[in-house]
Amino acid sequence: MNTLSDLNALRAQFPALQRTVAGRPAVFLDGPGGTQSPARVIDAMSDYLRRGSSNHGGHFLTSRESDATAEAARLAMRDLLNARRPEEIIFGQNMTSLTFSISRALAQTWQPGDEVIVTRLDHDANISPWLRAAADRGAMVRWLDFHPADCTLALEELPGLLNERTRLVAVNYASNAVGTISDVGRVVALAHAAGALAYVDAVHYTPHDVVDVQALDCDFLACSVYKFFGPHTGVLYGKYEWLDRLAAYKVRPAADEPPGKWETGTQSYESLSGVAAAVDYLAELGGAGGSRRERLARGLSAIKAHEAALSEHFLRGAATVPGLRVYGLTDIERLAERTPTFAVELAGHAPAEIAAWLGERGFFVWDGHYYAIAVMERLGTLARGGLVRIGFVHYNTIAEIDRLLAALRELAG
Ligand SMILES: Cc1ncc(COP(=O)(O)O)c(C=O)c1O
Repeated sequence: MNTLSDLNALRAQFPALQRTVAGRPAVFLDGPGGTQSPARVIDAMSDYLRRGSSNHGGHFLTSRESDATAEAARLAMRDLLNARRPEEIIFGQNMTSLTFSISRALAQTWQPGDEVIVTRLDHDANISPWLRAAADRGAMVRWLDFHPADCTLALEELPGLLNERTRLVAVNYASNAVGTISDVGRVVALAHAAGALAYVDAVHYTPHDVVDVQALDCDFLACSVYKFFGPHTGVLYGKYEWLDRLAAYKVRPAADEPPGKWETGTQSYESLSGVAAAVDYLAELGGAGGSRRERLARGLSAIKAHEAALSEHFLRGAATVPGLRVYGLTDIERLAERTPTFAVELAGHAPAEIAAWLGERGFFVWDGHYYAIAVMERLGTLARGGLVRIGFVHYNTIAEIDRLLAALRELAG
């Protein structure tokens, strides 16, 4: 049984967390780039291959098992995102590929002079597909800014950007660079009031809190299973109405209905085995009783509470490291508005140098822009190598943070 109240037992389920670097336990602070998997995910994936893999749709045992695997993964993702029906869940290579696929299809409905809105707080995977689609159709792109002081979205500027020509607003739920959680429900409401659709990038948000596509009322929402303890697979939620109505770029024999019409080529069934296992892992954190959706909601709420404690501990400690600057929300009273993902700089040290120095000591952190190039440009950090990103997830501990802060103090001299 996994619970967050026994973090040692929980961590014991993740083989990668047992690794060492130069004799010291590795500290995985690269969750925003990709998380580690519990043994049950690894077992599910290898079991699929061991039992015998097959393409789907055949009239024999292993093919039927592949169909069942895809169905189980779809039901699991329906529960995780609270979709109305499993057909609203599309699997694909990753979020980026799925977003290019939908943007190309949506753009067919646009006319020259139409407009789309993207934000400077987004990962480029929720910007470039829309820039390309807009260019293909002669549509105009408008940019929603963020406040550099605390890295919150300038939502007050959104009404001024929307008009009757706006076709789509693309927004991220949480920033993979600075951790800001945006009021996506409000963005969706404003977009809909203007007659536009809303496309939400929930890749960074999903491992940290409960997603509810029905409550958000978003038209599309994308996430990536490797960010929430599963394999490298992308997931797209779309309202059935749009998935049904839009013309997909697909091969002729492929299904004409969702989800099949959007799932180009052969899926990674071994990964889909891991998808269901990852969702079940999260549900188990919610304890026994109730539907899987209810257990998921409880599990993710427990994750959120643990991560808020990690954020508070990190922020209080970071304030005592000479020359360390944390970008984004640093107010302890506003932890509900951020994930435990921190972009930092240390005076006198280049981001790549810091990441390498920490890496040698077993702390796995990213440096650079992590594809959030618009964020780094706006903060003026892109040209000087971006920022160091320290990202916690629920399997990180207070003791790991203390070790990290001690290392940063040593480096700061
Ligand atoms: C916020 C965010 N959006 C999109 C992506 C792209 O996801 P994928 O690797 O599944 O294409 C990432 C990956 O880091 C991300 O953090």
